[in-house]
Amino acid sequence: MCGILGTVIHEGSEPLRSTLIGGLRAVEYRGYDSSGVAVLGSDGVMLSKRAGKISVLEDYLGEEPLVGSVGLGHTRWATHGEPNDVNSHPHQDNHETITLVHNGIIENYSELKLGLIAKGIHFHSETDTEVVANLIGYLYENEYPGNLIDAVRHACRQLKGSFSLVIMARDNPRMLIGVRQQMPLLVGHGKHASYLGSDVTAFLSMTRDVTYLEDGEMAVLDHDTVRFIDIATGKQIEKKRERVDWDIEQAQKGGFDTFMLKEIHEQPQVLRQMLERYLPSPAEPVYLPGLDEFFEDHDTRLISLVGCGTAWHACKVGRYVLEGLAKIPCRVEYAHEAQYHFAPIDDSAVTIAISQSGETADTLGAVKAQKALGSRSIAICNVVGSSLTRIADFTLYTTAGPEISVASTKAFTCQLTMLYLMGLWLAERNGSLDPDELRRLKAELIAIPDKMAAILHSKKQIDRLARVYRQVNHMYFLGRGLSYPVAMEGALKLKEISYVHAEGYAGGEMKHGAIALIEPGFPSCILAPQSPLLEKMVANMEEILARKGEVMVLTNNPDRFSQYDVHVFSFPDCPQLYSPLLMSLPLQLFAYYSAMLRGCDIDQPRNLAKSVVVE
Ligand code: AGP
Repeated sequence: MCGILGTVIHEGSEPLRSTLIGGLRAVEYRGYDSSGVAVLGSDGVMLSKRAGKISVLEDYLGEEPLVGSVGLGHTRWATHGEPNDVNSHPHQDNHETITLVHNGIIENYSELKLGLIAKGIHFHSETDTEVVANLIGYLYENEYPGNLIDAVRHACRQLKGSFSLVIMARDNPRMLIGVRQQMPLLVGHGKHASYLGSDVTAFLSMTRDVTYLEDGEMAVLDHDTVRFIDIATGKQIEKKRERVDWDIEQAQKGGFDTFMLKEIHEQPQVLRQMLERYLPSPAEPVYLPGLDEFFEDHDTRLISLVGCGTAWHACKVGRYVLEGLAKIPCRVEYAHEAQYHFAPIDDSAVTIAISQSGETADTLGAVKAQKALGSRSIAICNVVGSSLTRIADFTLYTTAGPEISVASTKAFTCQLTMLYLMGLWLAERNGSLDPDELRRLKAELIAIPDKMAAILHSKKQIDRLARVYRQVNHMYFLGRGLSYPVAMEGALKLKEISYVHAEGYAGGEMKHGAIALIEPGFPSCILAPQSPLLEKMVANMEEILARKGEVMVLTNNPDRFSQYDVHVFSFPDCPQLYSPLLMSLPLQLFAYYSAMLRGCDIDQPRNLAKSVVVE
């Protein structure tokens, strides 16, 4: 959950402040309860760390330029020990020889700590990370003097859990070591410096040439060379360089006040690009290269969709889409449940794992568990080279570009779009849809980005609705069929960034209990796209109005609601199938404006992190 970064200058020393602080800012979305930096310069290691956001660390640093030849930094989401100055990273061993940053959890840290205490080592923090620093320090000093690589290798072999580490030694001013074990880490190859980062955005302003580490691998950055070593055997391994196609502008706010607002506004454009790539014209087949081979000779009898949070909502929409278009039975499970609940699954199944980051531990666990039972797997993922894309048999990329705000927006609508594309592709392949209907649905999908743009033009209306509801502490979001998961997503967005308690409910379920909360003024948002279920939603609304509840409606049939005393937001006409794409935008904006009115920190809501890489 933490953001980590390291750099080695190929020759000489230089001020590393902007590299380290700029890089940490770019990965701050991974965790933001404390941060720290360390550089190795002519006077030894200079280490600074502070609880709070990176701005607190910057104030603490004052004008300090952080001159050095090697540097590393960390932005934390606390797992062991509260977020205070002492528990913040970097951590050092007792002799301040080793300085390191860590992402992940060391499961056997208590046991290792006792062993180190018995050797006379003292601990200052409550973290598992300080144990690693002291373990490496002890081995470096006593068992592998002068050989940092072997000291790190042998320390890693004693560690249990998931971790990525970036390590430097005071007596080795041109070397930085990176280790990956079930936590992401990659190397950036720059002209004058090399980098290690928990994700590419950490050094994207410096280089787009990268090498991804696999579990059990170590990268040794030494002057201008980078070596890769298998931790278990100590043997050098060859790895290829890749070029990422993200650019730094995509990872900046681009004139918007927040990343979330920027990412909401990017949706028409990113969907347009995605459709140009995978569905250039309604007359052509959906172009998903490699999918043919994946399904060749496979009699798919079940699709198991897994994900967490927003991605799980995409799975829930995906079930309706894939069952409706491809006529293949689907089941949807939270990844953290699927991981330990071994529902019947075999080699006639395909697991579809959806994840923006591709690093969500629960989702990785579910894919591994279902693969072990024989299921083949497809990742729908936004981050090239992420862990999920490495363990899945096949990946469909959502091409949303970097999503920085913790609240997922464009990644969600891109995930839905990929599910629609896959549904249309399977329908074409299986002949499960009439060709004219298929062509009509393709044309309608291509028309969606313009309709999204029209919704964004009406955003002031949503701002006004947020003002109407600015005092509320609770809210229901109700939908049926395809709109039910969208209602849950609308509720999650509001909860996550404005801290208003919200629940997404299936309209039909209301009368089985939840309606008990409706009293005068209790607000509900009714999702009512034109569909065979519209009248059922009207009935739900009537039940709420009868109890003097307040109602806001999202619909593309506003006339149906003209006789009621309700707030209506009208979105463009579209086939019911695609209404989740259009309804998502007003819901995202509603959450956004509600959070603004409450003065919340939109991009970095409390207690959350962008990638949840621990179970
Ligand atoms: C979305 O707004 C949330 N931040 C969260 O639910 C997120 O979707 C979830 O943690 C899954 O992340 P992933 O897509 O990176 O796997």
